Amino acid sequence: MTTSEIASTGAALTVDEMRADLTLEQLRELVGLVEYDASRDPFPVTALDAVCFVAGNATQTALYYQLVMGMRLEAYQGPETGHREHRSFVLRSGSARFVVTGGVTPGSPLLDHHRRHGDGVVDLALEVPDVDRCIAHARSVGATVLVEPHDVSDEHGTVRTAAIATYGETRHTLVDRSRYDGPYLPGYQARTSTVEHARLPGGGERLFEAVDHCVGNVELGRMDEWVEFYHRVMGFSNMAEFIGDDIATEYSALMSKVVASGNHRVKFPLNEPAIAQKRSQIDEYLEFYDGAGCQHLALATSDILRSVDALRARGVEFLTTPDSYYDDPELRARIGEVRVPIEELKSRGILVDRDEDGYLLQIFTKPLGDRPTVFFELIERHGSLGFGKGNFKALFEAIEREQEARGNL
Ligand SMILES: [Fe+2]
Repeated sequence: MTTSEIASTGAALTVDEMRADLTLEQLRELVGLVEYDASRDPFPVTALDAVCFVAGNATQTALYYQLVMGMRLEAYQGPETGHREHRSFVLRSGSARFVVTGGVTPGSPLLDHHRRHGDGVVDLALEVPDVDRCIAHARSVGATVLVEPHDVSDEHGTVRTAAIATYGETRHTLVDRSRYDGPYLPGYQARTSTVEHARLPGGGERLFEAVDHCVGNVELGRMDEWVEFYHRVMGFSNMAEFIGDDIATEYSALMSKVVASGNHRVKFPLNEPAIAQKRSQIDEYLEFYDGAGCQHLALATSDILRSVDALRARGVEFLTTPDSYYDDPELRARIGEVRVPIEELKSRGILVDRDEDGYLLQIFTKPLGDRPTVFFELIERHGSLGFGKGNFKALFEAIEREQEARGNL
């Protein structure tokens, strides 16, 4: 077996994880990595290869990811390297790779994409051990193949790649990088950050280690169709958590189910709007993104307090949590003992959720760009493989209690 074939079982590290000095034990804790038998998987997936964004100004956005999110620049492609149409920056934090691309020439199709959707995620690229096997299976069960399998090469070796369509105008590029040791993909040149990370608030340590999950918002009534797509095309399985009962719906105005790759490195919650008293946050996304798309990326951190403090000092705004959330005896009883005093969480607005396997700490940023579309979540897992389901209800109920106290309910 090659390294990536072993990694696809979950029993070994990917090259990106090794480069990030992560261990299997850390990944089990950080992202809930599990072992599984890839030999019977028609579409084995090793890991998330990259999250690819289109930005209105990739040059400045790449700087944001370095100065604010603490990421390191690794590779670049653009007019200076013979690619006249776009500028593309490859950034890294732990095993997480972001690629930010913007159009340069007025006729660039990236600019049409940006005109319609604004800044957002165009591609959730997946590292796979066998591109041809995945595409043959995907085609046989009706997936739309956007790019046929082909090789691309440079002096660092060869990558085999292809792409299939998913919700909205989002795609999954498949990448087999087992015969490649360049900085990203053939045609990209190695670059390093000129940013002095150590002098930024919070210091030079990375603020997240991996991507935990990527959430897709789809149109009303289409969530089950996309859950079925990931079952049928990619062999993903349902994770236990979903939000579908009346109470969650009443408060959060969304329905959500989670599908995951065999080794759980790749987890895709899928949301659709639900009918509620107020307009759903998912409806708002669908209007401003002009269709289905990626709503948030959850970034795994081993120290959410340090990450939140550093990000806040660099100007990141998070959603606020009412004090009543923390003062609520029901919440205190529900979450039990966590690694820090609740006051530490309260002062930062960090949420807690607990299930039979353990607990998690999480917090959400405000939207990253001008449109109320894509945002980040920070997540610190301690055994829990959930996604914060308990917080939907707890948060909305806490808000209601405040409303009630004001006589406005
Ligand atoms: Fe999430």
